[in-house]
Order: sequence, then C-alpha cells, then structure tokens
Amino acid sequence: MNIMVVGGGGREHAIIKKLKENKSIDKIYALPGNGGIAADAECVDIGAKDIDRIVDFAEQNGIDFAVVAPDDPLVLGAVDALEGKGIKCFGPRKSAAIIEGSKVFSKNLMKKYNIPTAEYEVFETAEKALEYLKTAPIPTVIKADGLALGKGVIIANTREEAFSAVETIMEDKVFGASGNSIVIEEFLEGPEVSVLSFTDGKTVVPMVSSMDHKRAKDGDEGLNTGGMGTVAPNPYYTDEVAKKCMDTIFLPTIKAMNAEGRTFKGCLYFGLMITERGPKVIEYNCRFGDPETQVVLPLLETDLFEIMQAVESETLENLTIKFKDESACCVVVASEGYPQKYETGYEITVDKDFDAELYIAGAKYDGKALKTAGGRVLGVTATAETLQKAVEKAYGEVKKVHFKNAYYRKDIGKKALQALK
Ligand code: AMP
Ligand code: GLY
Repeated sequence: MNIMVVGGGGREHAIIKKLKENKSIDKIYALPGNGGIAADAECVDIGAKDIDRIVDFAEQNGIDFAVVAPDDPLVLGAVDALEGKGIKCFGPRKSAAIIEGSKVFSKNLMKKYNIPTAEYEVFETAEKALEYLKTAPIPTVIKADGLALGKGVIIANTREEAFSAVETIMEDKVFGASGNSIVIEEFLEGPEVSVLSFTDGKTVVPMVSSMDHKRAKDGDEGLNTGGMGTVAPNPYYTDEVAKKCMDTIFLPTIKAMNAEGRTFKGCLYFGLMITERGPKVIEYNCRFGDPETQVVLPLLETDLFEIMQAVESETLENLTIKFKDESACCVVVASEGYPQKYETGYEITVDKDFDAELYIAGAKYDGKALKTAGGRVLGVTATAETLQKAVEKAYGEVKKVHFKNAYYRKDIGKKALQALK
C-alpha cells in the first residue's frame, strides 16, 4: 500500500508516525512534509494547496490512499479532485469542508438544526455591522467568515475595539476575501474542550477529549497562536458532558450535514465551550486539530489506518475504537517572538537519552543538519498513567531538545490539573 499525507506540520508528523504502525503500508509520502517528517516519510516538494500537482503526483506514483490533513486543501476540494481520479481518501469533500470554510454557513446550520451555539448576526457590509455594534452587548466576538489561519476571531472588550475589528476585517481586508462577510456573536464563558471525532456520515466516534492552550504566554496571556500545547483527556469533559454533547451536538451535526446533502466523512473537530447553560459549539473544524492530534493519536490503541479505511468505505459502525486509559501532554517549542517576528535557521539537536514523542513542525533539513524554519518548531509529547506524570515527563523531556531562541510555555496542563483537584 502506498499512502500519501497532504500537509507538513506537527499534526501531519503525528498522523504519519501513527500510520507507520500498520504493517500493510509499504510507503508513505508527505506533501510537502518537512525536514523532521523526512525521517518517517518521503517528502515531496508539492505545497498542500497545489491541488493539480497533488493529483498528478498521486496518479503517477500509484497512491492507494490519501490523507488530506490541512483545512486549505480540504476547503479547496482536494478530496473531490483525488476521488475524481479514483483515489481513496480520508477527509471531507469540499461540500462538507465548508463547515470550517465558512462561519456563516456553520452558524446558519446550527441555527437551522437547533445545535447549541452562541447567538449571532451575519453582516455583509461594514456600515450595517457598525450600526449594530452601537448597541450590541459588550464584550462581543467578531469573526471573519472564511479561513484566516486561526486569526480571524477578535474578542472585543470595548465598543471601540469592536468598531476597529470590523474596520480591519471588512474595510482593510486583513484576511482578504475571508472578511467579505462577518459573524458577530455573543461572548460565551466557560472552559473550552476540543473533541476530534471520526465519522463516515453514519456513525460518529469521538476521540479522547483534549485541551488546547492558544495564547502565546503563561496564564493565557499574550497573542493568540496556532496552539502552544495540549493535554488529553480534558477534565472538564465529564461523562455527563460527553453524553450531552453526543445527543445535542455530535449526532445532530452529522444528521444536519446529511440533510443538507453535505455528508461529512473524515475527522470532524468540535471546538466546545462548557457554559453554565450546557456545552455549546464555538467552532467546527473539518480536520484534525493541531496540536490536539499530538496528544490524541499517541493515546489511540486501534490501528489508525484501519479506522481511516472504515471511514472511507462507510463501515465505521463495525469497528470498535479504543483509547488507552492514560493521559498525554504536548509542549510546543516555538521560535522566540512567535506569533509575530522571529528568527529561523538555527540547528536543532536532541539529547541521546530523549524519551518521548517528537513531532517536528517548522524545520528544514539543509543536507547537514535540521534547522528551525517556522514559528512553531516542534512538539514534545509524553504519555503516562496520570496527567500529573504526563505533564512532568513532557517538561523533563523538552529540556533535552535544543535550538537557539527556543521558547515554550511553562504552564501547559496547569489549568487541567487544577480542575482535577
Ligand atoms: P476560533 O478560531 O473560532 O477557535 O476562536 C478562537 C478562540 O476565540 C476560541 O478558542 C475561543 O477561546 C474564543 N472564542 C470564539 N468564539 C467565542 C465566543 N462566542 N465567546 C467567547 N470566546 C470565543
Ligand atoms: N488547535 C486548534 C485548531 O487546530 O484549530
């Protein structure tokens, strides 16, 4: 079996490492992969958004199965294009990836099918949005409709901040066409939980829950990032909350997508907030989360490739998916300055006695050494029988990875450990 994984970050590295456990796989290609992924797959210099070349590569290299991991190619229709050439895929088609690709779509879907989420209004002009904001409750949340590298959400704590958010998104077009429409929604409060799920459009199997740490600095201060670390399971996701999510969110979402003629197959990510009035959807993603995947997949006991094949062939119902009864912690090590200005090109070294999972995200191999090449450089994941031990181990192992200007948060898992007390 020849497999192709589209993408090139820490999430893709975690997917590839897990796929390698399957003995029927002969070869894994990563498009484009990265300098660290190169140790586990053959990297091919084709960008994740270059759909034509991805399809050509798959045809020319006898790819039997493709895993499309990032949001961009999914929203652009990479799965439709590959399936059009008879290549089996894990990932939603374009018509279903819109659940992440358009916030206006996902909010309207939730309203139509009574799926709990923040109250909202949609605006197509800055003028109308600004008028509405004159009397809207503050704080308020302003979201660009389309993809914006995870940066299209602005929480405005004052009316002035809200006005300026509308201006930057709709008039200055900082997110381009993604800001042609915006959603303005109710500010919700409560702990956040990420739940990734496998679904073939009929059955939905939630994976172990996780908690992301989105802000750059300790204590959830600083700018929003792509994610500075994760833990799993998330202590706020109790059995009771899980049941409520299944009944009011997960199953209704799968059914709603079917009813709209947009059957979702792949990994559907539920970004949830556990409010006093129950769990509500903050966002849907049409893919595995990053860095959630780096704590969820190490806990997966069932063969990942078998699950992906079952999703593709719509036979998920026949599979029992198991997770280890353990905890995991991933500490992301970034280049100092991320998510703003940072320097790259520094050699990455790892001590010989390093004993954890190392997932490389932003690094390049220059023929001699692995060097930093991005904001988030790598993630160190440790698993253990308790969360306390997993956190301690991850922080012990992270000290064995070195590069100049390395920065990581010191409090990944702290909130979760407090919640357990
Ligand atoms: P998103 O890109 O949709 O995940 O939003 C980024 C972050 O903004 C989320 O993880 C939340 O912390 C926050 N957020 C989004 N929507 C809301 C909301 N309605 N109320 C409060 N916080 C929100
Ligand atoms: N970690 C959040 C995301 O993948 O969107």
